[in-house]
Amino acid sequence: MAAPTTRLFFCLRRQERRLISWRRLWGSFRASFSSSSSSLRRELSPGGMRERAGRDPGLFWGSLAREELLWEAPHHTDCQWDFARGTARWFLGGRLNVAVNCLDRHAQHSPDRVALIWEKDEPGTEEKVTYRELLDMTCRLANTLKKNGIKKGDRVAIYMPVSPLAVAAMLACARIGVVHTVVFAGFSAESLAGRINDSECKAVITCNQGLRGGRIIELKKTVDEAVKKCPSIKRVFVAQRTTSKIHMRSHDVLLEEEMAKVSSICPPEIMDSEDMLFMLYTSGSTGKPKGIVHTQAGYLLYAAITHKHVFDLKQDDIFGCVADIGWITGHSYVVYGPLCNGCTTVLFESTPVYPDPGRYWETVERLKINQFYCAPTALRLLLKYGDEYVKKYDRSSLTILGSVGEPINHEAWQWFYDVVGDGRCTVVDTWWQTETGGICIAPRPSEKEAEIIPAIAMRPFYGINPVLMDEKGNILEGGDVSGALCIAQPWPGMARTIYGDHQRFIEAYFKTYPGYYFTGDSAYRTKEGYYQITGRMDDVLNISGHRLGTAEIEDAMDEHPAVPETAVISYPHDIKGEVAFAFIVLKEHTAHPEVVTKELREIVASKIAKYAVPDHVLVVKRLPKTRSGKIMRRLLRRIVTGGVNDMGDITTLDDPSVIAEILDAFENYKAKHPTF
Ligand code: WTA
Repeated sequence: MAAPTTRLFFCLRRQERRLISWRRLWGSFRASFSSSSSSLRRELSPGGMRERAGRDPGLFWGSLAREELLWEAPHHTDCQWDFARGTARWFLGGRLNVAVNCLDRHAQHSPDRVALIWEKDEPGTEEKVTYRELLDMTCRLANTLKKNGIKKGDRVAIYMPVSPLAVAAMLACARIGVVHTVVFAGFSAESLAGRINDSECKAVITCNQGLRGGRIIELKKTVDEAVKKCPSIKRVFVAQRTTSKIHMRSHDVLLEEEMAKVSSICPPEIMDSEDMLFMLYTSGSTGKPKGIVHTQAGYLLYAAITHKHVFDLKQDDIFGCVADIGWITGHSYVVYGPLCNGCTTVLFESTPVYPDPGRYWETVERLKINQFYCAPTALRLLLKYGDEYVKKYDRSSLTILGSVGEPINHEAWQWFYDVVGDGRCTVVDTWWQTETGGICIAPRPSEKEAEIIPAIAMRPFYGINPVLMDEKGNILEGGDVSGALCIAQPWPGMARTIYGDHQRFIEAYFKTYPGYYFTGDSAYRTKEGYYQITGRMDDVLNISGHRLGTAEIEDAMDEHPAVPETAVISYPHDIKGEVAFAFIVLKEHTAHPEVVTKELREIVASKIAKYAVPDHVLVVKRLPKTRSGKIMRRLLRRIVTGGVNDMGDITTLDDPSVIAEILDAFENYKAKHPTF
């Protein structure tokens, strides 16, 4: 036992020494272009950061990487990139371990600092985990994986709700060089199987059951069903979240039981900066979800720096991001950013309305949360219940309120600011994507002199260079313009590829506007140069802040034997932001259309997830198509949003009488659904 412990600490001491020597080096480097200590302070001030980033983003990020991360070997090249080939590589030659950066260095200096506060489903039952305990848990989990044959380069799926063990599972993978893919624990067995097969995972880590809003979620059963179709799976590790008995299968391993048997010391695998850290599946405009790949050093640095600056982080802050770890927000701002920065991060297992709509604010009071980060959909839901649910709790600990995932409407922004923040907290509307790894456009409260305009994301982060393009691919200059939002230069947190399909990566992000990363969003730039995100330009829906391709839903519904054709479009919803509206064509002589629509809803829930089920399913005789056979979804959107008097260009429409036909069906549908 003694030998590995000594080795680990020796290794840490060596790294510390290296860090110090790099600090010294960085100090002299800084001094080379700033001679007095006041100008040094200015370099590190937000204004100074902006200037440094503007001068030379490569140099800027390279210096930050040396300052902020603990390296086994320093990098020799800041960045190499070629957007024509869809490549960007950061901190070449650098070697480090992400788990050491998130755990060991904090456990060494402040072992008893709380790393995680697990806000469990039942209010008042929270559990705290210190950095020392989380390191112990992570090492035991890593050793359990190793003991079961999982090794560097393997892929492992994590299908767990937010919990310390789920965080330890992510970090355990990082510690031994295994690539994790967290699958949101609300996805169906089929979705889980699809992701496992695409990434050829060797194991799944799950729980017997989940608990959310007082309801049980049968996770192990879903995993059992999924892995029947996954030949690559060799082990299923099962944690015991509830007391219900686990039905063991031959490849199952009881996680906590095994963790108790192995050592709490696990030497970190030293990784290259550009080795894969994780992949996360997200929806695009074509049917199959894509495995977005993030790498070690660049991702970690970007998550940590954006976390620090956008949320004006102070030492000992308690950071409350209520996202699930199944989404990128959970990766970057529940796990990697906050832990790399050594702060206390909250893991929120429940829902905003359990046991009542005061849950968020009761949690803020009890845990004394300083920064609170959530999705606009939750705010829209909560503001309907009235202010008393907020006002009865003490929210004086709050300093920054953040919103993410979808455009925030003015009403929700104002309510967040006036009622939740009592008019004294800064609200940051943060724009970013699974692909960007971290926040790219957001107000920065650390720049005190900067104004904040309600409901707009505003300012590109340091080193982010957004451009707006018109339809022809010309760059739009100046203010008061709208266009396709692109980014002109690489940043460390950007995705490196789509797992197993780099060509698709190039097509999706670098082909539309050659030489630029295309976000898929449109944006407006104000006269002052601030950015407002206006929405997706492709066939991607944003339901309660969750991305979903209309093609994914169509593909699922098309499998029904009585349904030859479907078209799904977005329909506005006052709480969820938007929902799916499905138009379906039935085979002739289908006897019971209402049975088919019910079955279609079930198919979508079982093939994708419950949240993907269309709110509206309308049976039509045919769909509007161009003469070449393409479905004109634009016309369907016009019909359901009352824009029939302005259908735009319909010269390519095969048979214009289809519009009246669908309008008729829609009017009938509305008459039958008075709440519509
Ligand atoms: C949308 C979530 C407006 C946008 C972090 C983006 C936003 C997609 C905002 C990415 C915002 C995210 N304002 N729209 N502040 N934040 N979006 O990959 O359309 O789940 O492209 O990442 O959400 O969703 P994703």
